[in-house]
Amino acid sequence: MSVMEMTPLHPRYGVEIHGIDLNDVDDALYAQIRAAFEEHSLLLFREQDLSDEAHLRFGRYFGSVENRSVPDLKEGAEFKVPEVSNITDDGGVTGEMDMHTLNLKANMLWHCDSTFLPIPALTNILIARVVTKEGGATEFASTRAGWADMPEDLKARIRGRGIWHRYGNSRRKISPELAEDALFTKWKDQHWNPVWTNPVNGREALYIASHAFAVDGLDDLEGERLIDELTEFVTQPDYVFSHTWNVGDVLVWDQRAVLHRATPWNYAEPRKLTSICISASEADGLDALRPQN
Ligand code: OGA
Ligand code: MN
Repeated sequence: MSVMEMTPLHPRYGVEIHGIDLNDVDDALYAQIRAAFEEHSLLLFREQDLSDEAHLRFGRYFGSVENRSVPDLKEGAEFKVPEVSNITDDGGVTGEMDMHTLNLKANMLWHCDSTFLPIPALTNILIARVVTKEGGATEFASTRAGWADMPEDLKARIRGRGIWHRYGNSRRKISPELAEDALFTKWKDQHWNPVWTNPVNGREALYIASHAFAVDGLDDLEGERLIDELTEFVTQPDYVFSHTWNVGDVLVWDQRAVLHRATPWNYAEPRKLTSICISASEADGLDALRPQN
């Protein structure tokens, strides 16, 4: 079996994988990609030419494709690959202060995807379709490296305490009106352990997000403060990698081991990424993420 050529993106995590066309993934190649995913948390493939169908096909190797409109999805309706985009149907861009753009701005808070769903995401596979001249990088922070380096006294304050997550919490930080939208209120609050242990290699990582709003055993303010303190620790510059997009770049990341955020751009410029989230499964360590109490 050929061994994939990889170069590091950051001293602590992340690799670019060279010489692969993601249209050609088969079981053997997926096994190598998956091993790199478990080890390095963030994978970059450049100059890929993937249709939406090919994007889905690659995604399905990782597990079930997340579909947030279920059970609203109409019978027989096809799944449309989600877009992270400010482009309107008539080819313009959404206004800087309209709800759609405000929702994109909520992506600029450090998060992992879908911690507010009954089944959170294992990965997001993001493809650059339209990129900006300036700004609009996506940043990552290793919650595995950050947790490994965290002083024991700070770790002790969160260990054993479940954290509560709600979609509207991250939207509320940008706009209270946005948080009330039905898109963000349709799931009940979710409760997860603060550490996700990778079942393949045993590595621990802090599991936190902008969606997190409360901590078991702490009052609201104490909980929020601890969430902020933990997030600040693991997003220090030493743990951050920033990716400037080119069309055809594909990033695949392990939500169990990194946080991410969008960064601002000139909103008059169009920007479009397509995104497929794959739901985590028991084999990914989801069972152990559920608090016992
Ligand atoms: C996402 C996301 C970041 C970006 O797609 O989940 O957070 O840079 N995107 O658009
Ligand atoms: Mn995201």
